[in-house]
Amino acid sequence: MVDFRAHQDKTEDVMEFHVAVIPGDGIGPEIVAEARKVLDKAGEKFGCQFTYRELLMGGASIDAYGVPLTEETLAAAKASDSVLLGAVGGDVGNSRWYDVAPNLRPEAGLLAIRKGLELFANIRPAYLYQELNKACPLKEEIIGDGFDMVIVRELTGGLYFGKRYTEEVDGVKRAVDTLVYDENEIRRIAVKAFDIAMKRKKNVISVDKANVLDSSRLWRSVVEEVAKGYPEVTLSHMLVDNCAMQLVMNPGQFDVILTENMFGDILSDEASMITGSIGMLSSASLGAGKLGLYEPSHGSAPDIAGKDLANPIATILSAAMMLRYSFDLDDAADAIEAAVRKVISEGYRTVDIMSEGCTRVGTKEMGDLIAARV
Ligand code: IPM
Ligand code: MG
Repeated sequence: MVDFRAHQDKTEDVMEFHVAVIPGDGIGPEIVAEARKVLDKAGEKFGCQFTYRELLMGGASIDAYGVPLTEETLAAAKASDSVLLGAVGGDVGNSRWYDVAPNLRPEAGLLAIRKGLELFANIRPAYLYQELNKACPLKEEIIGDGFDMVIVRELTGGLYFGKRYTEEVDGVKRAVDTLVYDENEIRRIAVKAFDIAMKRKKNVISVDKANVLDSSRLWRSVVEEVAKGYPEVTLSHMLVDNCAMQLVMNPGQFDVILTENMFGDILSDEASMITGSIGMLSSASLGAGKLGLYEPSHGSAPDIAGKDLANPIATILSAAMMLRYSFDLDDAADAIEAAVRKVISEGYRTVDIMSEGCTRVGTKEMGDLIAARV
């Protein structure tokens, strides 16, 4: 006999989360499909359910609506519990998406959704998988015992959001971008970085250009003030040019890197490259509340789109970050991360991380393998 009561109780227990899914452009749709596969498996295993609402952004939105992000899309994202994003953008040299004003290009959609959802903190972990050591472009003596850092990048202020214009003065063209930070913007991102450091090795290196920029001098003083509330955390400051060098000279020294928008953009690409596997690195963009936007650190790679070549792991790990930061499902997040490590240690590789003696798999098979191990 079927026990309806038990069944009913079970369905009542199931937590439901509404995920806005933005596949985006290029490889975006393929990698997001694999992340959904893994999420569904984690849901099954840990008694929760994810419902998805697909939204258009970037080039896909330009094709459909003429703009990279519509008000409706932003409102739908706001109304969700969290947002999972693939990647946006196309081939700058060849795509008609770039024949328009900068504020109508695919990337403008990304900047606008971050701002619209007030996601001021971009969390980008960069660590070296022991098994992928060979992909690391650094010398063995520099790699040492490996490295494990997280870049906390301010995401809605600074140069990317300041006033900008191009004008002609006495027949000479000139372009102006402005870099503005107020103390509140600096304080809230610093607090995020120190909170994260408390759960790690309790070391924050704040990166700026205080030898030149006023905004960096304010940054430094506010970060020092925030540090007083975290006596267990060691804080030091590093100039951004030096940091770029230290990342390839002694990456093991970093735990949490706290920095402003543009420096964080540049340094996080560098940090991901030294792991040798940008296809493995996740990211989270967070605000004051629980809603976040989760996306791989890599781009849309239009050259390999639709060929089952893309590595879905960064997106799958971003989905794990979503479970951890937005839904407080730490067990499910741990299970996904463990499944990824297992697949790697079993020797399965997409082409970007392929090495001798390993088994090459495509995007879909990688997703299947990970889902099966959750
Ligand atoms: C990133 C990207 C974006 C940024 C671009 C596409 C606007 O480079 O997420 O790092 O600079 O934030
Ligand atoms: Mg970038």
